[in-house]
Amino acid sequence: MPTINSIAAMKEEMTVWRRDLHAHPEIAFEEVRTSDIVAKKLAEWGIEVHRDIAKTGLVGVLRGRRDNGRAIGLRADMDALPMQEENDFPHRSTVDGKFHGCGHDGHTTMLLGAARYLAETRNFEGTVNFIFQPGEEGAGGGRVMIEEGLFDRFPCDEVYAMHNWPDLPAGSVGVAPGPMMAATATFDVRIAARGGHAAMPHMTVDPVVVAAHLITAFQSLVSRNADPIDSAVVSVTQVHAGTAYNVIPEDGVLRGTVRTFTPQMSTMVEQGMRRIAGGIGEALGATVTVDYRPGYPATVNHPRQSEIMADVAGRVVGTQNVVRDPSPVMGGEDFAYMLNERPGAYMFLGQAGGPSACSVHNPRYDFNDEILPIGASVFATLAEDRLSGSGDAA
Ligand code: NI
Repeated sequence: MPTINSIAAMKEEMTVWRRDLHAHPEIAFEEVRTSDIVAKKLAEWGIEVHRDIAKTGLVGVLRGRRDNGRAIGLRADMDALPMQEENDFPHRSTVDGKFHGCGHDGHTTMLLGAARYLAETRNFEGTVNFIFQPGEEGAGGGRVMIEEGLFDRFPCDEVYAMHNWPDLPAGSVGVAPGPMMAATATFDVRIAARGGHAAMPHMTVDPVVVAAHLITAFQSLVSRNADPIDSAVVSVTQVHAGTAYNVIPEDGVLRGTVRTFTPQMSTMVEQGMRRIAGGIGEALGATVTVDYRPGYPATVNHPRQSEIMADVAGRVVGTQNVVRDPSPVMGGEDFAYMLNERPGAYMFLGQAGGPSACSVHNPRYDFNDEILPIGASVFATLAEDRLSGSGDAA
């Protein structure tokens, strides 16, 4: 593959790094060993290291041949998942219940590969900030880094990141302007009713019946209230009420998740859930309250930077291997917070065809080491392209 030659030559070494990280997974904000390794390597290559940002996060700063006042941020996530690995290859997780099931071991390795290449060649002007973030899996490590002054301390004109993608073949990438990943939210809907004997329903307000109406009515939000061109998911994933065959319970609770791509849709779903809850509660004589908690915002690529990333990736994998209209995904990604602060883009890096050809978060998943030089080359080329003397400012 037409990766940068000296990065391709690092493949075996990068594979060793990646498998070592895989064997020693650390979950959100516990990435102590991982960030030690990253810091040590960056320092070895002459890159300035700033640690303890969002606890275990760190930033490597590399200056080019001349300061042209410009800077780029390249970001990788470092955390593993709290789940059991079911692979039995030699580099399998050595920690029970912790597993690099999303390939962040690969992301960290690819950014390290790019850092080493750029430190050795310095074929750019301005500054590259290598952002190694903790806690991507639901813990909001990217948000915490921003709250702790990431972009004030390390100004970036643009930010870029990538995620390995089992739905695309190795050697291809997917990137498009607009939403790539969804905004997430979770909800608790509490039903306060009146319990009693199951044989005397007229003496009660039955929360089970209220719950049934709520679940059905919530489904109308997507089917009847959402613009069919836009999309949303409302999933009630927990239903709790009752303890006995012959008791109508006093209360009940529904829980679930919402995924949307636009703020308008998020607002519509939240307001709709509140309206339905209030209306059905009123109609059936119960008090229904909604605790709606927004999670990650949608990951929305900026049009120009998306175009830039597609072009740069095309130089690495060939333009015919750049999918410019990948389907957005309903999963969440906290690089979203960085894209809300700075222009940038996020791409899917094809990884299908490796030994473990299953989806991320599957207990048999593994990062495909064949793509390490591709991702590292895309990161490195982005820096060289965006920080070249002739490159235009964003
Ligand atoms: Ni992931």
